[in-house]
Amino acid sequence: MNYRHGFHAGNFADVLKHLVLCELLRLLTAKDKRLFALDTHAGTGGYDLGGSMAGRTGEAAAGIARLLAAPKAGTPGAVARYLAAVVAYDRKFGPPGGALRRYPGSPRLIRAGLRPLDRFVACELHPQDALALKREFAGDRSVEVRQEDGYHAVKAALPPPERRALVLIDPPFEATDEFEKLVRALRHGLRRFPVGCYAVWYPIKDTAAAHDFVTGLADLKTLRLEMDVPAEGGKLSACAMLVVNPPWKLEEAMRESLPWIATHLGPGTKTAIFAPPTETPLSA
Ligand SMILES: C[S@@+](CC[C@H](N)C(=O)[O-])C[C@H]1O[C@@H](n2cnc3c(N)ncnc32)[C@H](O)[C@@H]1O
Repeated sequence: MNYRHGFHAGNFADVLKHLVLCELLRLLTAKDKRLFALDTHAGTGGYDLGGSMAGRTGEAAAGIARLLAAPKAGTPGAVARYLAAVVAYDRKFGPPGGALRRYPGSPRLIRAGLRPLDRFVACELHPQDALALKREFAGDRSVEVRQEDGYHAVKAALPPPERRALVLIDPPFEATDEFEKLVRALRHGLRRFPVGCYAVWYPIKDTAAAHDFVTGLADLKTLRLEMDVPAEGGKLSACAMLVVNPPWKLEEAMRESLPWIATHLGPGTKTAIFAPPTETPLSA
């Protein structure tokens, strides 16, 4: 296990993933019914943008930093709420103003989006990152941090007693068979809990593999959101979020948000929304 999310915190891929995650949380907590959230590949929970990892790569500069520098007027609601969650996390580490110091990972955003009646399990397998995640939530009884295989947790934790669930699956894609493992876990989860909302992040590096992944899930009700940025030095340049059983208002929020994100992440950024059976072409 070599992947450390700290090197990529706040980059364009996190922006897409976390924007969708925040909006999903908002929509799924709008009902007065309990929600179970499972973050299968949680990372450390929060990232020091000036630290030894994120500070070295500086990937947040072409991601979250560009969005925070954009004019506030006209910001779509979902984007404004995501940015507010990012800033609220950063404010825990010092007074407002200046550059962003800390970026919240998915567990922090999930924790911020849940209500006291909800339940949250976050899994992280890397020993150091699992320890950091436990420290991040030390004393917080509303988060259960487990150092365990997140794919196993999909099988073990579903169906939840709450009968409503958001499952974020965000693997590192280090292993060549990651798509296969992901599909197995997703199908297993869906068999155990067909009505859950499953949000899957994946890179679009091997376009054939990404295409096969999507076509293999064509029988499911999905919303797919893609983002493509100008490549720098062989770095990841495209990724997607596939949401299985999306809340119906998610598509509308993303149709408003993604063009704004594309404009403010910089020239050459493209986004696309695929909501079978209607598809929109890539928008500049
Ligand atoms: C892309 S990062 C997660 C980032 C996090 N979801 C976020 O958005 O802030 C993937 C994480 O999964 C961890 N990991 C790898 N294999 C795992 C597994 N089988 N189960 C749980 N965690 C795993 C890695 O150590 C890494 O921290």
